[in-house]
Amino acid sequence: MTGLPALRERYERFEPRAYLDNNYSPPRADFSSEGSVVPWKLRCLADTFGSGEIRGRTLIDVGSGPTIYQLLSACDHFEEIVATDYLEVNREELRRWVRGDPGTFDWSPFIQHVCKIEGRGEPWQDKQLRLRSRLRRILPIDVHRPEPLGAPLQPQADALLSAFCLEAVSPDGAAFTRALSNVSSLLRPGGHAVLLGALGESFYLAGSVRLPVLPLDEADVRRALHGAGFELRRLRCYVMPPELRTGVDDVQGVFFVHARKPGGE
Ligand SMILES: C[S@@+](CC[C@H](N)C(=O)[O-])C[C@H]1O[C@@H](n2cnc3c(N)ncnc32)[C@H](O)[C@@H]1O
Repeated sequence: MTGLPALRERYERFEPRAYLDNNYSPPRADFSSEGSVVPWKLRCLADTFGSGEIRGRTLIDVGSGPTIYQLLSACDHFEEIVATDYLEVNREELRRWVRGDPGTFDWSPFIQHVCKIEGRGEPWQDKQLRLRSRLRRILPIDVHRPEPLGAPLQPQADALLSAFCLEAVSPDGAAFTRALSNVSSLLRPGGHAVLLGALGESFYLAGSVRLPVLPLDEADVRRALHGAGFELRRLRCYVMPPELRTGVDDVQGVFFVHARKPGGE
């Protein structure tokens, strides 16, 4: 496994557009089948945020990358969404989407699908507008620092979201647990954490660069959550079907976690 300095160097060659095409275009983004991976992730998020239990003033998304799909159900329940990423190219991609610049990735099929599964009959353009208006801060982050944002987030966030970040940037299990504990400092006691991540993955492609991933199994995820002091509420796993093993990575499955930071009221 690559050490941290080498990993940081490789990330400098991350190509947002290639990453988006690999993971958020057909066949992985196939909205005609609820069993496909992207609809499965969106369903987990819609069910969890739709329960109404996770809400508040601020939600922070850790390692947002160039993507916004993970925020579509969450954005209804928070006044402000803070997106974060290590790379300026990804932060710029998000700013371009918020501004509605021409030529940005087309998230409209994702937004339409989420409106459909949420079942409130909301026009998708209204949700797009809501997310754009609530996504006010897009900040640099490094999950390997004890203060990932360089300074404490004040006040701490009411909820934390992170999708496919920690295992993609951690050289080993100890670094993964430490990163989870670092980002937990951004969350208020009693706050909720929602995580999506890769199972059994050792690499992914983002253009010409091949990025190493820490292969995790379900027990590793449980152990890391426990080690970082979270109370696990729900863990769901998805097995990647053969037709979605397209060669852009070697992911075996996906985990979805809802956990809580102890304390609070
Ligand atoms: C696999 S992508 C996940 C992107 C997106 N959240 C998604 O669901 O597709 C991993 C992200 O982690 C970011 N990253 C790399 N090093 C990081 C670090 N040290 N701290 C936080 N994020 C980092 C990358 O720039 C990239 O956007």
